[in-house]
Amino acid sequence: EQGAQAIESVTPAAAPVQTISKDVTILFGSQTGNSQALAKKAGKALEAKDFKVTVASMNDFKPNNLKKLENLLIVVSTHGEGDPPDNAISFHEFLHGKRAPKLENLRYSVLSLGDSSYEFFCKTGKDFDEKLLELGGTCIYPRVDCDLDFDEPAAEWIEGVINGLSEAQGETATPEAQVSTEAAVESEFSRTNPFRAEVLENLNLNGRGSNKETRHLEISLEGSGLTYQPGDSLGVYPENDPILVDMVIKEMNWNSEETVTLNKQGETRSLKDALISYYEITILTKPIIQKAAELSSNSELKDLVSTGNEDKLKAYLDGHDLLDLLKDFGPWNVSAQEITGILRKMPARLYSIASSLSANPDEVHLTIGAVRYEAHGRERNGVCSILCSERLEPGDTLPVFVQHNENFKLPENPDTPIIMVGPGTGIAPFRSFIQEREETGAEGKSWLFFGDQHFVTDFLYQIEWQKALKDGVLTKMDVAFSRDTAEKVYVQNRMQENSKELYEWLEAGAVVYICGDEKHMAHDVHNTLIDIIEKEGSMSREQAESYLADMQQQKRYQRDVY
Ligand code: 2AM
Repeated sequence: EQGAQAIESVTPAAAPVQTISKDVTILFGSQTGNSQALAKKAGKALEAKDFKVTVASMNDFKPNNLKKLENLLIVVSTHGEGDPPDNAISFHEFLHGKRAPKLENLRYSVLSLGDSSYEFFCKTGKDFDEKLLELGGTCIYPRVDCDLDFDEPAAEWIEGVINGLSEAQGETATPEAQVSTEAAVESEFSRTNPFRAEVLENLNLNGRGSNKETRHLEISLEGSGLTYQPGDSLGVYPENDPILVDMVIKEMNWNSEETVTLNKQGETRSLKDALISYYEITILTKPIIQKAAELSSNSELKDLVSTGNEDKLKAYLDGHDLLDLLKDFGPWNVSAQEITGILRKMPARLYSIASSLSANPDEVHLTIGAVRYEAHGRERNGVCSILCSERLEPGDTLPVFVQHNENFKLPENPDTPIIMVGPGTGIAPFRSFIQEREETGAEGKSWLFFGDQHFVTDFLYQIEWQKALKDGVLTKMDVAFSRDTAEKVYVQNRMQENSKELYEWLEAGAVVYICGDEKHMAHDVHNTLIDIIEKEGSMSREQAESYLADMQQQKRYQRDVY
């Protein structure tokens, strides 16, 4: 077959030498759908160059076939503390295990998605890159690590990869005018071209006296052409709090009407507008502090980014925002443009959609928990949730787009039983599931676990669930109100209490869905599922774990966690 030398011996300008396979496999590991959309986009761009492309989830790829591949592209995101997305876990483990094959005939490249406000930025992509190299692969284009604003770097990667593969083919690639990272969808509206949608309804779902505030938003998609399936998310671009923006401008003695340039394309806006709607100002990242230190002569700030002080920097990143940075490390001798130049673009917030489109034509509903907390002596607000809570009224508009999520989907067979675990705002997609099953007359059984603090004030959508139970669309519901009793009860306690029946549902082929808090809830529920399988299936811990892993592989265990 064709070895790696073929790449080196062929000069780009030489006549085409067809020594290298035109087959390209693109594997993605995606939690929210971004990597998947980019993988498809790369696939389309390669197909336009006559490559034969296979795009697949890492979960659906048989690792035994790895040895047969010649061209492999990886698109993968990183979550939490450097963890792979659910559908990348088993492939990631396989590559890092003893059974990983030598891959001397493999050409590869990695596109890595992440968030630079996390310590283990893009770790999963780095893992794959290092491992493929170690196993003997040849990197045809250097890995690109993307921050939240991934469109441009991803487009560059796609172009670079096409050039790399074409050069390996002995062909000179004619660069595309511009590789857009838009997924080809029916609607003209997308992540990079959001639709200004009108808010129809904005309610607080919690009762008086609750510790919580959960907004129920109804948004019109009329005229957008946007469609969605249960399990998909809605992306929302929020605006920063104008009061916080004013505080920043005042702190720096800037002029709010001053014009700043936003991007390479030369778009401009007034400083105030830019800080309200274009930039992220509530989260700091390591690159931002490093760049700020370059603009500053403050020795404390220089100290913070110096080698050896990583822990101090990490601690500072936690809970501080742009205003803190500007206050803590003055005096500043910089222009507004210099500071906006180091900021990240405002990322969209993704919310699991709480409605079914067939039940609510032209509408999308969201369930949003208001985030308020205190840090470093100042009240802090979640940008999007507090916009929705305090400043957004029916008639106002929000820039939105639909983010398809293949990893959280109702079973194709309407008779398949489903088990849904969604405490707090984790309830959202299950409202969509139940509406959809009602609308389509699906007959499969359904079981919902919901939890929140108090029955009286926090039973989100209570009347709807009661109706669904009465109508038989919802077969069974178990609730856990954690602060109504001396001892806390959580959804997983209810699952334990029903362990025998729950295991019977699993054995009958039920699909299990978890939505909500990742760090504590989803982790504990995961372990509870293993406990239940171990006990009711009379298995060892290892057997129970692999039972659940198999379920995940078969898409019978799906998570939408955050
Ligand atoms: P708590 O805040 O009273 O501890 C929705 O937020 C519900 O999830 C609340 O009742 C909350 O309880 C509960 N919750 C908190 N931690 C949890 C965990 N680890 N597992 C399951 N539920 C949890």
